[in-house]
Amino acid sequence: MCGIIAYVGDREAQPILLDGLSRLEYRGYDSAGLAVHTAGGLRVQKKAGRIAALSAAVARQPVSSTSGISHTRWATHGEPTDANAHPHLDQSGNIALVHNGVIENFHELKQALTLQGHVFHSATDTEVLAHLIGEHYEKLATLSGVARLSAAVRAALGEVDGTYGIAVIHRDLPNVVIGARRGSPLVVGIGATEKFLSSDAAALAPYTQKVVYLKDFDFVTLQPGQFDLQNLGGRDTDYEIKELDFKPEAAEQGAFAHFMLKEIFEQPETIRNAMRGRVDKDTATAHLGGLNLTGEQLRDLRRIIVLGCGTALYAGMVGKHMIENAALLPVETDFSSEFRYRNTPLENDTLFFVVSQSGETADTLGALREAQRKGHRALGICNNVGSTIARESDGGVYMHAGPEIGVAATKSFISQATVFALLALKLGRLRHLSASAGGEIIEALEKLPAQVEVILQQSDAIKNIAEKYADSRSMLFFGRLGNYPVALEGALKMKEISYLHAEGYPSSELKHGVIALIDKKTPSVVIAPHDSLYDKNMNSLQEIKARCGPVICLTTCGGRDTGHLADEVIKIPQTLELLQPILNVVPLQLLAYHTAAALGRDIDKPRNLAKSVTVE
Ligand code: G6P
Repeated sequence: MCGIIAYVGDREAQPILLDGLSRLEYRGYDSAGLAVHTAGGLRVQKKAGRIAALSAAVARQPVSSTSGISHTRWATHGEPTDANAHPHLDQSGNIALVHNGVIENFHELKQALTLQGHVFHSATDTEVLAHLIGEHYEKLATLSGVARLSAAVRAALGEVDGTYGIAVIHRDLPNVVIGARRGSPLVVGIGATEKFLSSDAAALAPYTQKVVYLKDFDFVTLQPGQFDLQNLGGRDTDYEIKELDFKPEAAEQGAFAHFMLKEIFEQPETIRNAMRGRVDKDTATAHLGGLNLTGEQLRDLRRIIVLGCGTALYAGMVGKHMIENAALLPVETDFSSEFRYRNTPLENDTLFFVVSQSGETADTLGALREAQRKGHRALGICNNVGSTIARESDGGVYMHAGPEIGVAATKSFISQATVFALLALKLGRLRHLSASAGGEIIEALEKLPAQVEVILQQSDAIKNIAEKYADSRSMLFFGRLGNYPVALEGALKMKEISYLHAEGYPSSELKHGVIALIDKKTPSVVIAPHDSLYDKNMNSLQEIKARCGPVICLTTCGGRDTGHLADEVIKIPQTLELLQPILNVVPLQLLAYHTAAALGRDIDKPRNLAKSVTVE
């Protein structure tokens, strides 16, 4: 949700800023801009539209500069226009600011500044903060240089309510960038003679492997040869320099047409990475050291609550089925955004899991903090090492899925579901689950990567199906038990990247209303593996066929073959009922991908979306 990249050093800044923005484009892509120091003052360029439009504008009028700030936007306040794009300037035009987050009291601040003679040129909350910094800067005339700018930024931030990750420059301070965060992620990248500030470490990987993840209320001053990290109050603060755990190639598209397709095809490896070093065949259990809980504490749990948004929540719903089945432990799931404001009755011995690929989703972070405020232990299942949720949770499990760039989540779902399978195994083995049953789960888990490969080989066949139904206005997805969240995820993928209307339902709900939607032009995807509810799923399929609805049936190889009842059949390998959702999601990702491709959609950057939603 908006991406920031800033640079100070000894190289040309503009190419680095534009390259960084292109790596952050998944965070927002409705407009972009940059401001750099030049011999003649600040050069600001902003453009509505994709980063390519900004790059073209910069290429037409390149300037030499070794420091600057830049931003790619996902609009919250004000439409995506050139004027609303960041950076924003203060009244004097000497201070430039980029911002990720929301200034909640911007109306009041804007009114007060307007009365003092400030004139605004955009509808954004960010411009108000730029003017506020400028107002303080004018008043701090007894100070000079970096001290004056720092004091002005600190004073302004002291007056704002809301969230921010910001980068600020002043025309008279070349090679100085000031950054601060509260609620929106920022990472400092460290080179010997250059420093970076970015919303996401992945954008820094081509330039440096050494990073410092900023905490809320951190305040950093970057200069080419040094950086100074304090808190907002001006006191020194602890920090740790971390080595990035991925190489730049991991965030490259390679030979694939889209990041989404690349990430779908990475999933065999994603499963291996989620399991690596965590499975113990001798004791038929999983080792998840980051949980920071003893076997006894885990055995004494009475309830688990899983929170997340979008795909992460659906992976949590798959996890509910796994844990309840393998460990007979009650699990509830909830939207992070609902949980954080609800009066949820909570008992002792309840453990929370918050699930988030980015580790920065504002609603999930809010839910984590609410659970902790209520005195509960909350663990994270995150991909981004060093992210806010990973740092603030009381422990958890890293997904190790590598960077996910496609806005539509794919490999993160499979990774989260695999982590939940390991959790289910561990919790089960601490309770009633026998060693032989645990061993069966491990054996099945180890076969999953090869089984995903078999599904991926059907990509062309799924493409044919997708092309046949791509002109539908609506598509319905049905599944039961662990496959109900898979139906939800299949529908979400379809909505997100093809813009087709799509809904997911438990198959049995068909007859309670949704059946009214069935007609010749509304295809249904029925997830019907050969499991305990196969016959019941087939009943639903027949009910759809009886109303002339086209059916795409997703079923497993072997078992009774009733696939001929459907218009299209996708057959995939069979695994344990507990793990089948992990396989079933893959054809649905491909179906959404190929549908969107047939419709000519912008698959990696679907309209109106952002990958990491760091505002409420
Ligand atoms: C946004 C994205 C979804 C994603 C959700 C949760 O809504 O568009 O694709 O599933 O956020 O993201 P997280 O990073 O918390 O997993």
